[in-house]
Amino acid sequence: MSDRNTTVAVIGLGGIGGVAAASLGHAGRLEVVACGRRPLDRMKLERPEGEVEVSMRTLTDPEDATPVDWVLLVTKAQDTPSAAPWLAKLCGPETRVAVMQNGIDHAARVAPFIGAATAVPTIVYYNGERIAPDHVRIRHIGDADMLAPDTDDGRAFSALFDDVPITVGLSADFTTLAWRKLMINLVVNPITALTRLRQAVLQHPDILDLTRTILDEAVAVARADGAVLEPDEAARMAALIKAFPRDAGSSMYFDVLADRPLESRQLTGALVDIGARHGVPTPVNTTLLALTNAVSDANG
Ligand SMILES: NC(=O)c1ccc[n+]([C@@H]2O[C@H](COP(=O)([O-])OP(=O)(O)OC[C@H]3O[C@@H](n4cnc5c(N)ncnc54)[C@H](OP(=O)(O)O)[C@@H]3O)[C@@H](O)[C@H]2O)c1
Repeated sequence: MSDRNTTVAVIGLGGIGGVAAASLGHAGRLEVVACGRRPLDRMKLERPEGEVEVSMRTLTDPEDATPVDWVLLVTKAQDTPSAAPWLAKLCGPETRVAVMQNGIDHAARVAPFIGAATAVPTIVYYNGERIAPDHVRIRHIGDADMLAPDTDDGRAFSALFDDVPITVGLSADFTTLAWRKLMINLVVNPITALTRLRQAVLQHPDILDLTRTILDEAVAVARADGAVLEPDEAARMAALIKAFPRDAGSSMYFDVLADRPLESRQLTGALVDIGARHGVPTPVNTTLLALTNAVSDANG
């Protein structure tokens, strides 16, 4: 069923945003506009169902944007402030802003930029790779490709993808699942970025010990913050991470290799801040934060 009256703007056309914009555009039910830094009239989307070429309507100047029903914010988290001119023009009081970024504090991150619009946090599980500016690939990783809170706003977000082969799960305990996703990022991103090694490095005996320490600190902070975790959560998470493909990189690993800034403050920094707020010490994560911030700032 056509729903061309529903307007969706996608800010950020990288691995995740490019896949989302092209997938929604290919389904053809919604009015999709891509907001990027360079003109793009087509996107090649590689997916298990087959490759498709999708025509895109792209804006490159926020001054040309008008309020929409949905904004999908899909920049790296540290680029959120740079998207402020887009958000200012795209958001009205009825707009919902789905924050498709890693981290734990999605709503607080966008609050300064969206006025009376509503922030909808999401967790992205699919792997999105930008092969070229006009060419992206999706790999499905888990049972769901994304997760949203089981609220009216979360259900409305899920409905955007009703006719798209991207599954959006709903959870009544979004906080716990967001913490679990953050825990993976706290280990995989800094270690692969600082060593400049793919995930095979996570098998190294010394790194296994470091992984466990990072997770022990994270579990303590997450519990203090309201996450409902298993008694052996850190051990389970360490085993899960150890089984990740050895040849996989990570978002921060690829950003280091490309001399780009890192999401360090929004991932490890969020843990350290929340730990401090609850009086939970995080010495090892604080050390990793200092190192990754230094790399990020050298690239910025
Ligand atoms: N990739 C994955 O598999 C994956 C999986 C789970 C979660 N995530 C999370 O998803 C989020 C997005 O990651 P990603 O991998 O898609 O990042 P990415 O490939 O680096 O793409 C980010 C995009 O945002 C654009 N951008 C940055 N600032 C902008 C601005 N002010 N206006 C317009 N566009 C702007 C960039 O444009 P330029 O091209 O001009 O730099 C780039 O196209 C991150 O929080 C990441 O941690 C990623």
